[in-house]
Amino acid sequence: MKNINPLNTKSWKQLKKHYKIIKNIHLNEMFINDKNRFNNFSLLFENKILVDFSKNRINDITLKLLLKLTKETYLSEAIFDFFNGKKINKTENRAVLHTALRSFNKKPLFYEGKNVYLKIKKVLRKMKIFSKKIIQKKWLGYTNKFITDIVNIGIGGSDLGPNMVIESLKPYNNHLKIHFVSNVDATQVLEVLKKISPDRTIFIICSKTFTTQETIINANSIKKWFLKYTNKKKDFKKHFFAVSTNYVEPLKFGIDIDNIFKFWDWVGGRYSLWSSVGLSIMLLIGYKNFIKFLQGAYSMDLHFLKTPFEKNIPVLLALISIWYNNFFNMETEAILPYDQYMNRFSSYFQQANMESNGKCFDRKGNKVNWQTGPIIWGESGTNSQHSFFQLLHQGTKIVPCDFIAPALSHNPLDSHHNFLLSNFFAQTQSLAFGSNSFYYKNINNINNNCFDKNIIYKTFEGNRPTNSILCKKITPYVLGALICMYEHKIFTQGIILNIYSFDQWGVELGKILANKIFLKLLNKSYVDNFDSSTNGLINIYKKWNFN
Ligand code: F6P
Repeated sequence: MKNINPLNTKSWKQLKKHYKIIKNIHLNEMFINDKNRFNNFSLLFENKILVDFSKNRINDITLKLLLKLTKETYLSEAIFDFFNGKKINKTENRAVLHTALRSFNKKPLFYEGKNVYLKIKKVLRKMKIFSKKIIQKKWLGYTNKFITDIVNIGIGGSDLGPNMVIESLKPYNNHLKIHFVSNVDATQVLEVLKKISPDRTIFIICSKTFTTQETIINANSIKKWFLKYTNKKKDFKKHFFAVSTNYVEPLKFGIDIDNIFKFWDWVGGRYSLWSSVGLSIMLLIGYKNFIKFLQGAYSMDLHFLKTPFEKNIPVLLALISIWYNNFFNMETEAILPYDQYMNRFSSYFQQANMESNGKCFDRKGNKVNWQTGPIIWGESGTNSQHSFFQLLHQGTKIVPCDFIAPALSHNPLDSHHNFLLSNFFAQTQSLAFGSNSFYYKNINNINNNCFDKNIIYKTFEGNRPTNSILCKKITPYVLGALICMYEHKIFTQGIILNIYSFDQWGVELGKILANKIFLKLLNKSYVDNFDSSTNGLINIYKKWNFN
């Protein structure tokens, strides 16, 4: 991967000039001037996902310049290195091969002298056999009853991915009940324990490192609880499992070696749901659906790999995002799924994008003086329309939004879906085109005797950009493709913005400090060795705890 300061590229300089023109053009005008704008600025992925990016503040020249930027930053070469197992995660000296986990390519892929596909297949087979036994009620707990509940203990990528996918694919869930324990706040553990019986539950401790404090503390509390019911080693084996790159720590914890589902350090935590981290997904939707989920992602991988950038969905989405974040100074992006099952989708991509691209040093180690990752947030529609959409429509901040919706609902009921989708279509329309635009343009000249004194408050400026992502139906295949589309958007942004997207050193300092502080909380003694705010907070905390 090259180190190119994007600011020094010709295209960046041209984009800066071009921005000065585009910023004054309203989306209304763009649509009036190009009757074919929808066809010109939308792409269809396999007749399953329609990406309409026409309601963005771009024109042919913008795209031409942004595409030129991909050349000047050597995006194609970086994609090649990524898929071929080059160590593109330089600061951790690792390859980034989550794409191999969902590959159906027949040719071997060698990494450090070994064909990674063979390792992946082996683990997938183990997951298949195990999940079948649980689903078919053949795996029995210590009282010889079949398993009804799964508890996934993990945090970050070891929680958000499985959680989001299982929820998004609820119509495909079987009889098993899933519970997630991620927060070290005991409330979450205790609330889950209230709902389950130890003899009918399996516990999957999901942690890439198996050293993450939250996960290990939660796992130990659950183990302690379980051992109150039975402390026989053979019983423990029936109920406790680990998903990790680490064998040593799970064994120390007491997990039987056969109960460890491995993955590898070339799978980043936030990209791990395709690996054995997806065990709980497979348990809930079954092996066949899990394979379809992988196939959807693989198809999007092929699209990303093989499609010229001018028709490449993840690349175009990334370029548009860079355009807003760096030229318009629009700092945040909202992801708004109009599908109740996808209510965790934006939280998942909050981690994926912000942990990947929330960086301030470039690949040469210099502090960047351009914008890197945007702030990602969102909620499911239509609920969000009745909370924060006011700001999206009339606030002083402009938030580019992705609207996602299925054309076919899993729950067709009377006119619900038509009503939901009318809102989906109407929101992007009103954000783009606004209303009362005459008054908006002449806002300072409005005569005080105007017939409606409140007209200015009812004025919508419009010109607020959105992408509409209309999926035929949210199936395992489509969800796999959709997740992968966003993953490659993040990758593309990272390459062009010249940062390392696959490490996360920024979360380490907090962990180190928490460890130091933890020791200070164990006794009553007064603390004075931190800054005055931290000392003050700790001392009041102790006072309230020890009195
Ligand atoms: O602290 C951040 C992080 O390292 C994430 O990248 C990761 O998904 C999460 O912690 C959990 O890590 P692990 O799977 O090793 O427990």
